[in-house]
Amino acid sequence: MNSNELFQKSLKYVPGGVHSPVRSFKGLHTTPRFINKAEGARIVDEDGKDYIDFCMSFGPLILGHRNPQVEEAVIAALKNGWSFGACEKYSLELAEFIVERIPFIDKIRFVNSGTEAVMTAIRLARGYTGKNKIIKFDGCYHGHTDSMLIKAGSGLAGTTTASSQGVSPAISNDTLICELGNLEQLKEVMEQHKNDLAAVFIEPLPANNGLLIQNAEFLKAVKELTDQYSCLLVFDEVISGFRVSFQGMYTHCHVEPDIVTYGKIIGGGFPVGAVAARSEIMDKLAPVGDVYQAGTLSANPVAMVAGLANLQQLTDNFYEKLERQSLKLVNIFSNWLTKNGFEDYSLIHFQSLFWAIPTHDKIINSSQIPGNIQERFKVLFEELLNKGIYFSPNAYEVGFVSSAHDDDVLSEIEQRLWQ
Ligand SMILES: Cc1ncc(COP(=O)(O)O)c(C=O)c1O
Repeated sequence: MNSNELFQKSLKYVPGGVHSPVRSFKGLHTTPRFINKAEGARIVDEDGKDYIDFCMSFGPLILGHRNPQVEEAVIAALKNGWSFGACEKYSLELAEFIVERIPFIDKIRFVNSGTEAVMTAIRLARGYTGKNKIIKFDGCYHGHTDSMLIKAGSGLAGTTTASSQGVSPAISNDTLICELGNLEQLKEVMEQHKNDLAAVFIEPLPANNGLLIQNAEFLKAVKELTDQYSCLLVFDEVISGFRVSFQGMYTHCHVEPDIVTYGKIIGGGFPVGAVAARSEIMDKLAPVGDVYQAGTLSANPVAMVAGLANLQQLTDNFYEKLERQSLKLVNIFSNWLTKNGFEDYSLIHFQSLFWAIPTHDKIINSSQIPGNIQERFKVLFEELLNKGIYFSPNAYEVGFVSSAHDDDVLSEIEQRLWQ
């Protein structure tokens, strides 16, 4: 069966034919490609067509598909068994490798996804501070836990409403929303709720609603405010962690969060998330403390081994090279866009993340994003898809460059673009 046939069949068994809505080609003229296999920078669909991939599983694959060291480690690990529900050394090796390299964390707990990491961070922040409300920023995504599926309400700053059906108002009322980059508004909301604020959550590099790059001064000011109001600062680094440097956005803004959440790259493409912090916070988690958190498959040995084999390759040189390749790529795309009817587009980029958007303005929050960019994106996405270049199928998703996007792949992209 080809991709379209598989999709039609999936519609019968799976809601919308997909297991995560971002995989759907909703609103596009074509149906999702069913991927059969992948290697390096390439994916191949069930129709036998290959694409140079910039979705990269939405971020985990910083080394490309089927990185040989990760593959070898996983195959070896499988031979020892793939789930014990008991202590094992693999998660300890990964924990040590991470904690020893990141200055603001003493302990880490592994979970199964970014959503689970954020869910744990919320409960941990509440348990540690004894307070209930959390602040998040419009335009930051923190997974699909109830407390984070919240959008700004109309009217006063800080009023909120659920962004999904099924979220109880009792939960949405405890999440307050602020605008990225707007310190005055944040101060106002914090002052208003000063007696009940557990934490401020932020993607220090917001990369889920386009790429809304914040300046370091803003992040520093947010940290000062969380200290002033005796609540915690949580950096959600599910995307930026290990991507923009091994130490994530800390390297770029020199702000130490109280809690950090990880996902994606930390598992090398296997289902892993993590929450980490100083000991005094982490020791609030069960079995030491009274904040409950658990998981049957948490710290799955195969995933732990994959994560370690992945992270061991992320040296300073690695990041320098990846940034150089990413800049070359941005130039290739920018040049092509300008000369092929997309001159209104620019590429906002940060290290190995990029976002194609039909404006040349600087954009730091959601309200500055031009309306209806999805309509314009459709044309670009489908043209690239036909040329064998695979972007995530949504105007608000960023592109991910991996170390597999080497010079040979870049030359091939140029050829595909211009042919
Ligand atoms: C910043 C951020 N937080 C949390 C999540 C949720 O992670 P997961 O999809 O693994 O549940 C994502 C996923 O894209 C994310 O980008």
